[in-house]
Amino acid sequence: MNVIVFASRKGGSGKSTLAAHLAAQIKASKSCLLIDADPQGSLTLWHKLRGTNEPPIKTAVNSVSGIVAAARREGVEWVLIDTPPTVSAVVEDAIKNATMVIIPARPGVFDVNAVQETIQTCRAARKPYAVVLNGAPARRDEAESPIVTIAREALAKFKAPVWGGQITNRADLLMALGQGEGVREYYAEGRAAAEIARLWAAIERSVKAIRGTVSSNGTMHKQAA
Ligand SMILES: Nc1ncnc2c1ncn2[C@@H]1O[C@H](COP(=O)(O)OP(=O)(O)OP(=O)(O)O)[C@@H](O)[C@H]1O
Ligand SMILES: [Mg+2]
Repeated sequence: MNVIVFASRKGGSGKSTLAAHLAAQIKASKSCLLIDADPQGSLTLWHKLRGTNEPPIKTAVNSVSGIVAAARREGVEWVLIDTPPTVSAVVEDAIKNATMVIIPARPGVFDVNAVQETIQTCRAARKPYAVVLNGAPARRDEAESPIVTIAREALAKFKAPVWGGQITNRADLLMALGQGEGVREYYAEGRAAAEIARLWAAIERSVKAIRGTVSSNGTMHKQAA
């Protein structure tokens, strides 16, 4: 079983958004459980709007360990955990249970700076992690926006592994959430769906490398040390 934790100290970086879209992506082929460990309940709201109970969701308050252990016993393949923008016991507990931590960050100076705390938590727990640039300006003529390049340079200074792709700021992502859908369900041929699919492929590749089933060449994560 693989546990992907979405964590970042910065509110609004895209933890709940990525968790929801990726859950809908996974659900198409594999068994998946969502855990909403954020009292704000964004993921729970999306799940209510969805109205199908697919994938199932559980709420965690102080700890996720019991829910994760039960999911393991039940043979769930993927567990996705959304966490609050705090440094709290439940975030630490989620990271302890992680196969890999995804740290979404918008490409702004305050946002990039704020990833450091979460990186420290991952390093302390010796967990693989990767930063995912989210809400980025669209690429033009195949070139990424200067602000994304600057963000990558700043993250390189922290020696933080960063996904080579980006999740662009797109209305489709919001529209889909409002209907309780993943963007693939909302508009499968769109660019937002392609980016989410690419992110999912990168996560799968990293998790296989973490599990030792493929070489780690070209993966986005870094084994925290
Ligand atoms: N790539 C994107 N394109 C368009 N809108 C986005 C994108 N990413 C996030 N948003 C929107 O930005 C807002 C904040 O995102 P989200 O709630 O996912 O952040 P979060 O990290 O979960 O925040 P919190 O820490 O408060 O839980 C939401 O309205 C979300 O739908
Ligand atoms: Mg959230």
